[in-house]
Amino acid sequence: MKIVIINGSARKGNVLTAIDAFQKGAAAGNDIEIIQPDQLHIAPCKGCGACQCYKGCVDKDDTNATIDQIVSADMIVFATPVYWWGMSAQLKQVIDKCYCRGMQLKGKKTGLIVVGGSPVDNIQYELIRKQFDCMADYLSWDMLFQKSYYATARDDLQKNMEALEELENIGSC
Ligand SMILES: Cc1cc2nc3c(=O)[nH]c(=O)nc-3n(C[C@H](O)[C@H](O)[C@H](O)COP(=O)(O)O)c2cc1C
Repeated sequence: MKIVIINGSARKGNVLTAIDAFQKGAAAGNDIEIIQPDQLHIAPCKGCGACQCYKGCVDKDDTNATIDQIVSADMIVFATPVYWWGMSAQLKQVIDKCYCRGMQLKGKKTGLIVVGGSPVDNIQYELIRKQFDCMADYLSWDMLFQKSYYATARDDLQKNMEALEELENIGSC
């Protein structure tokens, strides 16, 4: 299976730690690619609608290559820190740009990893999960997992053995 992971964090911190643990579990038998939006040039969606008439996005940046990569995946894993009670702008920007090829994302297997600096009973995790539930419903995604973790300092998640084991197990399934 080809798994594409979109890392919504620019920091080498908790989200990357979570991705590494998932990847460790998923490494055997899967082809894994990581999209790092902060290292790409992807302009925000202008809502021009041209993509609905022409093939792809009109922006001459990394948008179309990134969307090609996502469309080619059997499974997409969305990984994000919580920024202001929501997903990060980096991840949201890539999702917005998927508008140009939205229907080609139908039926994908998906997963969601969220790391925030507040305990997991905070409403922010529910808000993010619900937003992904709506996308999953719209695009008939098979949402295989949605996991939220509490970690603030850059290395906090590295100390959470239970979380790392859980993510590795999820990856191996
Ligand atoms: C711009 C910004 C906004 C944030 N907003 C929230 C928030 O609303 N709720 C929260 O629990 N943590 C918030 N945090 C903390 C991060 O979610 C937390 O530190 C997370 O572990 C960062 O992941 P990273 O180490 O992969 O960057 C915010 C951090 C930043 C930089």
